[in-house]
Amino acid sequence: MTDRLIIEGLMSTVGPGNVVHVTAMGAHVDRADDRVMELRPFFPSTTWDNLYGTRRGVFHMTDDMLQFARIVMRSEQPRANWVTVDGKLFPVVEGACRWWALEATSFSDEGGRGRIAARVVSYREERPFIGLHRARHAVLEAAILATRTHILSAGEIRRQLANVAPWVDKTGGRSERIAFAELSEYIERRLRGPSNPPDACLDSRQSGASNAGM
Ligand SMILES: Cc1cc2nc3c(=O)[nH]c(=O)nc-3n(C[C@H](O)[C@H](O)[C@H](O)COP(=O)(O)O)c2cc1C
Repeated sequence: MTDRLIIEGLMSTVGPGNVVHVTAMGAHVDRADDRVMELRPFFPSTTWDNLYGTRRGVFHMTDDMLQFARIVMRSEQPRANWVTVDGKLFPVVEGACRWWALEATSFSDEGGRGRIAARVVSYREERPFIGLHRARHAVLEAAILATRTHILSAGEIRRQLANVAPWVDKTGGRSERIAFAELSEYIERRLRGPSNPPDACLDSRQSGASNAGM
């Protein structure tokens, strides 16, 4: 029996002109084999384009949810340092707990979503992970909702946000409170924008989204 998980983290890739792109992404990992990972970027996405173009990227695990939230909202461009592995440069985001330098080995398109198999070519633990934390988990859920305002109804998003908000009040520190507040404002702005679908047309798209495996 396989023991596969999706770990949520930050993915950095390199675009034309060596421009570093960082985005939130899930990595599919098999606990029986830590030499490989799989990524599932949607189309279109810079992550797919960059990985297809260079075959190189870095997946990061972090507990800094303020940085994570701001990367999702594109309000912060994180600093990245180049690390050389086998003569190739990989962009490592500053502040992450752990990172895995990846070399993409195969690409396929599965119904509008990419599937990229990757080999781990280097790995490093930079600092300890703080541990399980409900407020940080709430920020993670809010970050996912922030990237789904075009898929889910405003009502569903507000309901899900309200469910996790008490975790921030009960267990959060300053940075979790700021992250959650900024994400909540960002989500509201997007929900009031033109691209959010009305509640009535969402049932089928919602079930597709919940299978999306982020
Ligand atoms: C926790 C989390 C996990 C995500 N996982 C994925 C993923 O597996 N695939 C994907 O395409 N987008 C994922 N997203 C959404 C991307 O961050 C977002 O769609 C982004 O715009 C990807 O496009 P880009 O490569 O052009 O930045 C995730 C977002 C969050 C907050």
